[in-house]
Amino acid sequence: MESIENNSQVIIKDVWKLYGKDAKKVFSKKLMQETKAVIQEKTGCIVGMKNINLEIKKGEFYILMGLSGSGKSTLIRSLIRLVNTTKGNIIINGKNITKMNNEQLLHFRRDTFGMVFQHYGLLPHLTVLDNAAYGLKVKGIPKGERYAKAMQTLETVGLKGWEDYYPGSLSGGMQQRVGLARALANDPEILLMDEPFSGLDPLIRRQMQDELVELQEKLKKTIIFVTHDLHEALKLGDQIAILRDGEVVQVGTPEDIVTSPADEYVQQFVQDASPAKVLTAGSIMEEPSILTYAWEGPKTALTLIRANKRRAAFIVNKSRELLGVIREKELVSLLEQETKSKTIPMDSIKKVSTVTEDTLIEDLFSIITENPWPIPVVDEKNRFKGIVTTDHIFESLSPLGGE
Ligand SMILES: Nc1ncnc2c1ncn2[C@@H]1O[C@H](COP(=O)(O)OP(=O)(O)O)[C@@H](O)[C@H]1O
Ligand SMILES: [Mg+2]
Repeated sequence: MESIENNSQVIIKDVWKLYGKDAKKVFSKKLMQETKAVIQEKTGCIVGMKNINLEIKKGEFYILMGLSGSGKSTLIRSLIRLVNTTKGNIIINGKNITKMNNEQLLHFRRDTFGMVFQHYGLLPHLTVLDNAAYGLKVKGIPKGERYAKAMQTLETVGLKGWEDYYPGSLSGGMQQRVGLARALANDPEILLMDEPFSGLDPLIRRQMQDELVELQEKLKKTIIFVTHDLHEALKLGDQIAILRDGEVVQVGTPEDIVTSPADEYVQQFVQDASPAKVLTAGSIMEEPSILTYAWEGPKTALTLIRANKRRAAFIVNKSRELLGVIREKELVSLLEQETKSKTIPMDSIKKVSTVTEDTLIEDLFSIITENPWPIPVVDEKNRFKGIVTTDHIFESLSPLGGE
């Protein structure tokens, strides 16, 4: 077996999949340049993958996106040879899987991959626990050990207490959690997910996405995830590969895809994206016109606020941590007091809701209405980074790309 030195965990090199007889006919110089439609017309072969080249790094959350029929399932399945490629090489962990014999393949699949598909693929006559433990049973892991491991992954996916139920009595979301638990029980290096949330209600779907992001932070698996939903792709993906008619048309980060779509086809996807679900607070925040400092006196703060024709200002400490908002009226009353304070006391400062740079704009709406002032953006240590104003939020929602 040939071995290739490269820091990518999955390398897909010049890969083709043609469905139908006489695939060899396609590999003439002339036909290979043709589109899927022409190839099909001239040879009767259906193009599943056409000269695909991709590299996926360890720990990456990698999205395959495209319209129905674009070849997403063909591609993800070819990684475990549920689909045999017609041409090209697929190297995983340095091993060329297109060259493996059945015995090698079987072990490699079991040891390296976990799979989650849209139709949960649970066995109806087995309990949740037995379903979760199924892959381990196939591997020949003794009962005690596989149950212990399955219990643990069921807990990870939030299904503790459901071990003895049968899949039929669970909601779609919960069945998919069982599917995920089953895939994780094996502790696979690479998780393959083919439209796992497509059958779920929007609310449940969003929740499952959030949980998967959290899980990924913890487990740091390589995840290859198929979706035809741009919002799902943007939310989950580190990298997104966009497929059309069996070909890769663009590979990039969510930001790349949204800000510079490679062609019409990608543009169509992006147009449908709601900016509120794509843009983050960090991308629209600005410097506040004034900022006050807790170690300065009330007189300084009041002067600054009035000079800028404001009624309030954000206030930070020496580490630039946000303390809250200090308002004109509090400053005035501080200055009217007998015992004049040299600094601004904490009980005069009003606490405020904050967001971080990666908060999506859609999650800002509920905060906008809370207060008359802009929304402060802070980092993980509560250090002040900037503000987002209501005006700016609404401006950003006019068509994408206008900045
Ligand atoms: N078993 C098969 N036999 C013939 N054609 C197939 C088969 N599986 C998929 N195809 C064709 O290959 C193309 C890609 O399909 P698929 O990988 O399922 O796309 P996606 O998952 O993006 O919807 C489609 O044109 C589809 O009709
Ligand atoms: Mg598919």
